[in-house]
Amino acid sequence: MLKHAVSQVQHKEMKNYLPDIHKNTTEVPIKLRTFVELTMDVTSASPRRYFFEVMSYFATAEHEKERLQYFASPEGRDDLYKYNQKERRTVLEVLEDFPSVQMPIDWLVQLVPPLKTRAFSISSSPLAHPNQVHLTVSVVSWTTPYKRKRTGLCSVWLAGLDPQQGIYIPAWFQKGSLPRPPPSVPLILIGPGTGCAPFRGFVEERAIQSSSGPAAPIIFFFGCRNEDDFLYRELWLSHSLNDGVFSEAKGGGFYVAFSRKQPQKVYVQHKMLEQSQRIWNLLLSKASIYVAGSATKMPSDVWSTFEEIVSKEGEASRDSAANWLKALQRAGRYHVEAWS
Ligand SMILES: Cc1cc2nc3c(=O)[nH]c(=O)nc-3n(C[C@H](O)[C@H](O)[C@H](O)COP(=O)(O)OP(=O)(O)OC[C@H]3O[C@@H](n4cnc5c(N)ncnc54)[C@H](O)[C@@H]3O)c2cc1C
Ligand SMILES: NC(=O)c1ccc[n+]([C@@H]2O[C@H](COP(=O)([O-])OP(=O)(O)OC[C@H]3O[C@@H](n4cnc5c(N)ncnc54)[C@H](OP(=O)(O)O)[C@@H]3O)[C@@H](O)[C@H]2O)c1
Repeated sequence: MLKHAVSQVQHKEMKNYLPDIHKNTTEVPIKLRTFVELTMDVTSASPRRYFFEVMSYFATAEHEKERLQYFASPEGRDDLYKYNQKERRTVLEVLEDFPSVQMPIDWLVQLVPPLKTRAFSISSSPLAHPNQVHLTVSVVSWTTPYKRKRTGLCSVWLAGLDPQQGIYIPAWFQKGSLPRPPPSVPLILIGPGTGCAPFRGFVEERAIQSSSGPAAPIIFFFGCRNEDDFLYRELWLSHSLNDGVFSEAKGGGFYVAFSRKQPQKVYVQHKMLEQSQRIWNLLLSKASIYVAGSATKMPSDVWSTFEEIVSKEGEASRDSAANWLKALQRAGRYHVEAWS
């Protein structure tokens, strides 16, 4: 049992490095294993440079000490970046690579990256699913420059849960950057990949609203690699039929860009340009724009595409189109929620 989160530092020469940890002790007993699982990211995040410096003090094998000192030095900065951050080396992996290092728990508690919370957009409408919150989570995986397979900590953990076994997941709500649109506002939605998450809720909500009164149309630009990651395919297609919120009869539309189905990339921006006039007409009808998904390049590419559309359809210069869009943003009609 760990009565205090940290105890007295025993290594005198190291004392100067530690902040005043004794103020933050807890009196509640907690198992060491639970403490580590709930607070310390040992299997996902990479340690910082300082971690290597401290490791070098505890290394008993001379060659390990030398290597760690090199990593901690200004000359070793680039090699440390290649070994550590670029490879997304985890604390556990680093400790395994330097087996002579026996770092005391006091130090690990201080230096291991804290376990971070993850945010997810709510992808259900409370009208359609009272007392439930649905999430749309992409299982993150990639290959490092040295061809090591890496996976996302939280998304893989969520994907591995067994829905049959009730499990308690600590969660809370935080106001997002996409306000809930009133039914009278036409919507232009851009959500490639998991960016479709918040729009699933919007579409469910508008479908319910439109069954009991007038509701403005929605056009939605979705993007995925191919048919295999075509999230909620049936849902979107069903809303495109007959009286659905995406139906042409209602002034709506659903457009999907498959990026890897053909030799050249097709993204949501390409589909938007094909619908340039419809987008412009909806903007003139006081539509709001919502963009969600990967933060890497997509939001700025989509912004440029809107600039191009406004410039072409509004017969304005590119600068005037950009200013027009900025005014739209200030008026609360251009919203972005993006993540990496
Ligand atoms: C407001 C908001 C809303 C969000 N909504 C959603 C949502 O609805 N659905 C959803 O799936 N996610 C959403 N996210 C992202 C989510 O919070 C997590 O970041 C995501 O699930 C990954 O978490 P993880 O623990 O699985 O991965 P982690 O263990 O945190 O690993 C992810 C990290 O790995 C690295 N990485 C990932 N891919 C690569 C690559 N190809 N090359 C190099 N490095 C890479 C990056 O550093 C990345 O930050 C949202 C984020 C925010 C801020
Ligand atoms: N293993 C898998 O099969 C798989 C499948 C989906 C997601 N994932 C994981 O989940 C994470 C998040 O996935 P996600 O579905 O939210 O997003 P994503 O897969 O990163 O992207 C969704 C779609 O957006 C496209 N895209 C890329 N750059 C764009 C740009 N600048 N503008 C417009 N569209 C662009 C992608 O095309 P391109 O990727 O073809 O460029 C893809 O078709 C990914 O990082 C990945 O690790 C894995």
